[in-house]
Amino acid sequence: GIELGKLLAQTGYITYDPGFVNTGAASSAITYIDGAEGILRYRGYPIEQLAQNSTFIEVSYLLIYGELPTRQQLDDFTSRINRHTLLHEDLKRFFDGFPRDAHPMPVLSSAVSALSTFYQDSLNPFDEPNVELSTIRLLAKVPTIAAYAYKKSTGQPFLYPDNSLGLVENFLRMTFGLPAEPYEVDPDVAKALDLLFILHADHEQNCSTSTVRLVGSSEANLFASISAGIMALFGPLHGGANSAVLEMLEGIKANGGDVNDFVNRVKNREEGVRLMGFGHRVYKNYDPRAKIIKQTADKILAKISGGDELLDIAKALEERALSDDYFVERKLYPNVDFYTGLIYRALGFPTKYFTVLFALGRLPGWIAHWREMIQDPATKIGRPRQIYTGEKERDYKPISER
Ligand code: ACO
Repeated sequence: GIELGKLLAQTGYITYDPGFVNTGAASSAITYIDGAEGILRYRGYPIEQLAQNSTFIEVSYLLIYGELPTRQQLDDFTSRINRHTLLHEDLKRFFDGFPRDAHPMPVLSSAVSALSTFYQDSLNPFDEPNVELSTIRLLAKVPTIAAYAYKKSTGQPFLYPDNSLGLVENFLRMTFGLPAEPYEVDPDVAKALDLLFILHADHEQNCSTSTVRLVGSSEANLFASISAGIMALFGPLHGGANSAVLEMLEGIKANGGDVNDFVNRVKNREEGVRLMGFGHRVYKNYDPRAKIIKQTADKILAKISGGDELLDIAKALEERALSDDYFVERKLYPNVDFYTGLIYRALGFPTKYFTVLFALGRLPGWIAHWREMIQDPATKIGRPRQIYTGEKERDYKPISER
């Protein structure tokens, strides 16, 4: 395939492939997806096994370095991350400039971009120790930035990280804790969030990861590339879908809870009405991550929030859609985000914040891809071609004659 691609490029013919539906832009050893069978593996390990047995920090190591860590490697990785969780005090002031109701995604992206101004001496993408340091800084500081974006929206004071805690526990404490009150992390909440992060950690050449690779292909540094990836994730067809699902379920509830009515509006192709959390470019079968989440959603929601009417609506909607030819013919199944919003809500996060949680989960995948891209001798600056459809050559007309 790679050789054929090179050969075609030499012929001068251009492949017209909007949305890159059939274009292999990179070769990668990180994540394997079989969309027809509903298979997802990180570095060869089935997602089901990782969800069952691993932790987010271990999966981050696996994605970035290619192998599961030994105990010593994991301890070392964890303590290196713990040493970098603090933000420079000047960066903290950065948050003052945003309006209080700012969406947390651009806040996150801007602050990650700003990190590159604090570490200007270690941005060389070809210097391995620098890349390693930027990797650890990102894994450590992005959760702190995300927690501060939340604190900014609530008007509460920022908390310094407590590095005796694990990565997810520390993030929860910085998000929901208050300086004067001790904050006990609920182990069930931490475990649920850890699982969701594992499920989101990588998904090969999706829109945000491709963005990270494309920006990085110009030899832009890791912070700049990740910041761009965060903005790609912001869109409602990608990471924004988890918020959009909850808004859709709330809309159905407000209209009396009739899923039939909503499904008919989708089928009638009413402007802007899509079954959010359904469909996927690659999965034309059940998204394996949605299967895992569905199993845990019931348990978590019952324990943490004592049940949720929106979960009942979600289940009725899923059942209705899966038994309807319109969705079956188009191979539209629930994707990972169909149930995540409900869990995030039960954990106490506001709807606007859900996509930030997706970004926290996807971060190790973005880093792994950037590093793979920069080390790959086949990498060239990303530069798609186009089919020109504009005017033929014409002569300039003075303004008085137009
Ligand atoms: N609701 C209703 N119809 C849909 C949906 C949907 N969610 N998704 C696809 N379709 C229909 C399309 O209208 C099209 O029908 P047609 O052939 O009759 O015109 C057919 O299914 C094929 O859809 P495409 O738009 O070609 O699929 P594409 O691969 O371009 O889009 C996408 C994939 C963006 C995920 C789409 O399914 C969608 O918009 N889903 C809702 C948003 C969502 O959940 N996004 C999260 C994706 S997963 C993630 O990022 C974690």
